[in-house]
Amino acid sequence: MCRTSQRHSTSAMVTSCFPICVIALAVCVLSVGALDTFIAAVYEHNVILPNRTETPVSQEDALLLMNKNLDVLEKAIKLAAEKGAQIIVTPEDGIYGWVFSRETIYPYLEDIPDPQVNWIPCTEPNRFGRAPVQKRLSCLARENSIFVVANMGDKKECDSSDSNCPPDGRYQYNTDVVFDSEGKLVARYHKYNLFKPEVQYNFPKVPPHVTFDTPFGKFGIFTCFDILFYDPAVVLVDKFQVDSILFPTAWMNTLPLLSAVPFHSSWARGMGVNVLAANLHNTSSHMTGSGIYAPEAVKVYYYDMETESGQLLLAKLKSRPRISPNYAAVIDWSAYAKSAKPFTSDQPNFPGIVFFDEFTFTELTKDVGNYTVCQKDLCCHLGYKMSEKRTDEVYVLGAFDGLHTFDGEYYFQICTLLKCQTTDLKTCGTPIASAFTKFQAFSLSGTFTTRYVFPQVVLSGTQLASEQHYEVLSDGRLESRSDVPLPILVMALCGRVYDKDPPLSGQGGYS
Ligand SMILES: *[C@@H]1O[C@H](CO)[C@@H](O)[C@H](O)[C@H]1NC(C)=O
Ligand SMILES: *[C@@H]1O[C@H](CO)[C@@H](O)[C@H](O)[C@H]1NC(C)=O
Ligand SMILES: *[C@@H]1O[C@H](CO)[C@@H](O)[C@H](O)[C@H]1NC(C)=O
Repeated sequence: MCRTSQRHSTSAMVTSCFPICVIALAVCVLSVGALDTFIAAVYEHNVILPNRTETPVSQEDALLLMNKNLDVLEKAIKLAAEKGAQIIVTPEDGIYGWVFSRETIYPYLEDIPDPQVNWIPCTEPNRFGRAPVQKRLSCLARENSIFVVANMGDKKECDSSDSNCPPDGRYQYNTDVVFDSEGKLVARYHKYNLFKPEVQYNFPKVPPHVTFDTPFGKFGIFTCFDILFYDPAVVLVDKFQVDSILFPTAWMNTLPLLSAVPFHSSWARGMGVNVLAANLHNTSSHMTGSGIYAPEAVKVYYYDMETESGQLLLAKLKSRPRISPNYAAVIDWSAYAKSAKPFTSDQPNFPGIVFFDEFTFTELTKDVGNYTVCQKDLCCHLGYKMSEKRTDEVYVLGAFDGLHTFDGEYYFQICTLLKCQTTDLKTCGTPIASAFTKFQAFSLSGTFTTRYVFPQVVLSGTQLASEQHYEVLSDGRLESRSDVPLPILVMALCGRVYDKDPPLSGQGGYS
């Protein structure tokens, strides 16, 4: 890494001797090339799906469909480059969709080599066999001088010498590829935590940690469901110290707590990295919500359940957020909650289900108050003030400390304030999209036993609250910072207790 401050010392070496001078100049060029900021782009894509079929189509028909999607992505890539973006992320399943069997996806797959082979498919398209999609992506990157991130399928033949080799003699991987601004393949990531319905793919035997360096920071890459698990997502940040995460996704929104924009941006905030998240757009499958998220703020996002349009987003990001002077201090998530005396109230607790998990709730019965609710090791404290206690809306404070087991197993500790679907307390935890009650002040905290806590504040209409309106204090309190009344739909501190996950939780047995 070359910082501006080193430039003076290296150029001072110029007088000492010729060979060093050449090296020093190279260092100078590098440090001039290093950028403090960059322009990131993500494209939310309404993927054109193939017709459902039980028998595989021909490779030609598969390519026809993929080229239709690539025509749309091409427009977005060109426009992003014209607007000065250095890198663009396109969604998972963005070239042919997600509805396949193992056999019907086969004609869409290409053999994607290890990037170490040093390959520019645009200039050498036939070096590794048939690769029309890689060639087209590489040319788009090269001709527009922009890094292009895309998701496609990789196939790897195997035989009986490999005892894990599937009966049809090949591995099929859900794969992210990155081409640099000269069209060179610089990264290939095989998705590790496959989502249950992804029967068309195999998972790699060990979690791949894929990173690459650029003049605008160090990047790591993973896909969709991976964001819920420790490996490779957290490892890329904690161990490999990446600055930015590239995140192609095909995310189906699940209110109240797992909606794309609030959850992905809370991960950027909780982990202290940039996240470039590109989602598919398909409202009937609840897929929308892309954005460019910095640790300290959401730079731009898109969430649209009204139209069927794709959307290009651009934003400027710091190349190395960790060394920025206003980089968030480490948060002790349980400091306040452990020292606070639990608020007592005569309000009864009751159970309620949020996305298949049984929470412990207590109702907020007044316009102002303090409540504590506990489940197992987790106690959640809330202080709040509403503009007015409406009779047609009910809010609860909830705690959950347990293993989520639906569509994947992961251990959560969650403190949440949420609006119930109706005034019937049995509906608390059921998704609801609008809210009229305004909160003028709030403070939410919990006795988490993990340091991985992801804070989110979602307003009526599944819109995000702005950072101007709330903050996370270093003692772990999520607090309002202005008295602007906010129509809160749900607010949460979602803690992930990775060491209580069952082994190989994200995958194993799924494919
Ligand atoms: C799907 O089938 C319809 C009717 O046969 C056809 O018009 C359409 O072009 C097909 N779509 C694709 C993506 O192949
Ligand atoms: C959205 O996805 C569904 C499959 O889940 C598909 O039937 C539908 O045609 C898609 N909508 C659009 C606009 O492509
Ligand atoms: C809630 O707790 C805070 C902090 O302990 C206290 O200042 C405030 O008066 C309490 N409010 C109510 C309504 O009990």
